[in-house]
Amino acid sequence: DRPVTLHELAKMRAEGRKIAMLTCYDASFAALLERNGVDVLLVGDSLGNVLQGQSTTLPVTLEHMVYHTQCVARGSKRPMIVADMPFGSYQESPQQALRNAAPLMAAGAHMVKLEGGAYMAETVRFLVERGIPVCAHIGLTPQAVNQLGGYRVQGRTEEGARQLISDALALEAAGAALVVLEMVPASVAAELTAALTTMATIGIGAGKDTDGQVLVLHDMLGIFPGRKARFVRNFMDGASTIDDAVARYVAAVQDGSFPAPEHTY
Ligand code: KIV
Ligand code: NA
Repeated sequence: DRPVTLHELAKMRAEGRKIAMLTCYDASFAALLERNGVDVLLVGDSLGNVLQGQSTTLPVTLEHMVYHTQCVARGSKRPMIVADMPFGSYQESPQQALRNAAPLMAAGAHMVKLEGGAYMAETVRFLVERGIPVCAHIGLTPQAVNQLGGYRVQGRTEEGARQLISDALALEAAGAALVVLEMVPASVAAELTAALTTMATIGIGAGKDTDGQVLVLHDMLGIFPGRKARFVRNFMDGASTIDDAVARYVAAVQDGSFPAPEHTY
């Protein structure tokens, strides 16, 4: 199979073929996700939670992200690899973001992801113009948990919804290829997705009317010991193997049966 490039993602968006994304942190799972049809592997800073046992993503370092990106890159060929920029590695300036994105790209990432709305647009443009594709991330941005006051749904008010949509438009204009929408009302995610012309939306707790979906691997396999968020479905329920569970996730994203209303705000 041909590798998943920016061009292929744009084509999937234009043709209405859903993008199936999961987090991935090592070579064995990278190979497993690839053989079951996952399009995009996110080396998420959620590794702080699910691998390291931290209560937030804030302690994750660039060195951790580089190491896990190398592991994932060795295990897969076809999927696009997106690496999270960790807390404190990009917020200071576009220059700081480029300096810290470079080792992630050298480690095998094809795109970096950073959290934040319109105020990050200048940084997004700076990276994109210098050859680094960017995935934005708005709504619930876990690196800002202390400012947000917890892991809660974002964009519930009319003003909050307007803000999310103007943030997305600014990030799209700056050249971001993808945007993760985390914990936003389905109606807002749908309106936002319809307002965009090039940037593909990837939902997590954002309803079914996005261009793709993402979940944390350990959540969708039911092996994370913490509380299960409303938007998570355990795909091991009724599956015989991990391969089977991942294949069911990909099929459910592609046919629109996941997320269902019970996973949605
Ligand atoms: O780190 C992560 O796993 C993420 C996803 C939840 C989108 O950012
Ligand atoms: Na993340």
